Amino acid sequence: MTRHDRVIVGISGASGACIALELLGMLADLGIERHVIVTEGAERTLELELGRGARDKVAALATCCHGSGDLAAPVASGSYPVDAMLVVPCSMRSLAAIAFGTGEGLLARAADVTLKERRRLVLVAREAPLHEGHLEAMLKVTRMGAIVSPPVPPFYAGLANLEDMVRQIAARALATAGFDPGERLRRWQGPSDNQANGSIRTCN
Ligand SMILES: Cc1cc2nc3c(=O)[nH]c(=O)nc-3n(C[C@H](O)[C@H](O)[C@H](O)COP(=O)(O)O)c2cc1C
Repeated sequence: MTRHDRVIVGISGASGACIALELLGMLADLGIERHVIVTEGAERTLELELGRGARDKVAALATCCHGSGDLAAPVASGSYPVDAMLVVPCSMRSLAAIAFGTGEGLLARAADVTLKERRRLVLVAREAPLHEGHLEAMLKVTRMGAIVSPPVPPFYAGLANLEDMVRQIAARALATAGFDPGERLRRWQGPSDNQANGSIRTCN
């Protein structure tokens, strides 16, 4: 498959706006073109969770920021070549819009296009606890080809603080979308010698 080094990043109004900023920074470091869609809900969570300057940081990290209602944007069409789309974080509202292919708003439209073109769609869906409707929507998008990857911290990775956890969640989403995050992602290498607890492993 031809690689374009171009992604769509949808930011919706679920909690976890910091993950989106971290992800955009990683994509920029990797030289991948970033087409960003910020929903109205996310305009609010960005400010509430990260302060007034957060929206400007998103704009600075994007290659191109598309208006959330701009259905004429290039990313609204399947003919525009992109490798993948991530929705980070993904609210239950945006999840439902994607599950039912409403195409209402650019984020849902771009996600719909990503699915119809059989490109990778990663939804970092955040809500807790979940009711049957949330779970049904997750099952539905999974059956349609999306990957639901909630922002679950890797507790096994021995991370020191919240920043580390956010970094790992963003790096994992990047890897799930098909990009190599390199050393940014701490990969499980098995227990260290003092954790091995009698298990036998021989590697060459
Ligand atoms: C501070 C804050 C945190 C929120 N966190 C979540 C959340 O974690 N998950 C969720 O589904 N909605 C959450 N919401 C509600 C969404 O923002 C709201 O449903 C919004 O309409 C989502 O629309 P969007 O998907 O178009 O951004 C939160 C709202 C606020 C103000």
